[in-house]
Amino acid sequence: MDVLVINGPNLNTLGLREPDIYGSTTLAEIEAGLVAQGAAAGLEVDTFQSNHEGAIIDRLHAARTDGTRFILINPGAFTHTSVAIRDAFAAVDIPFCEVHISNVHAREEFRRHSYLADLAVGVLAGFGPRGYLMAMDYVISRLVGR
Ligand code: DQA
Repeated sequence: MDVLVINGPNLNTLGLREPDIYGSTTLAEIEAGLVAQGAAAGLEVDTFQSNHEGAIIDRLHAARTDGTRFILINPGAFTHTSVAIRDAFAAVDIPFCEVHISNVHAREEFRRHSYLADLAVGVLAGFGPRGYLMAMDYVISRLVGR
């Protein structure tokens, strides 16, 4: 598998959760769009969602040996809290983009800090679900060259 898409806590409730902030698109719809976008470029995309920090870390460790070449992650609230997920990214050393549906810089102060952003290739925030597709567009140009 070429690209791993990880979504963190509460993102399984997209579509229901605070629709004024996160919109009405479900996670299943987002994931299906990413798989299709990757497939059209000849890339295999795997998706993973967990509400548990340790499960995300275990999935990152597995990525080291399963052929993952790039990771897209929306770490949800773990963005702002998790030294452990930061350390996992440093350990596996696979390039990644951080994606946020909302503009975290236009919300509460505590959402402005990310434990991952300085390790990421780039960060997309505030473009709604389209941000995932924009990030995948970058991944395709990086891995496939178009
Ligand atoms: C989020 C922003 C985070 O601050 C929040 O905790 C989330 C979602 C986003 O996609 O905008 O769960 O990552």
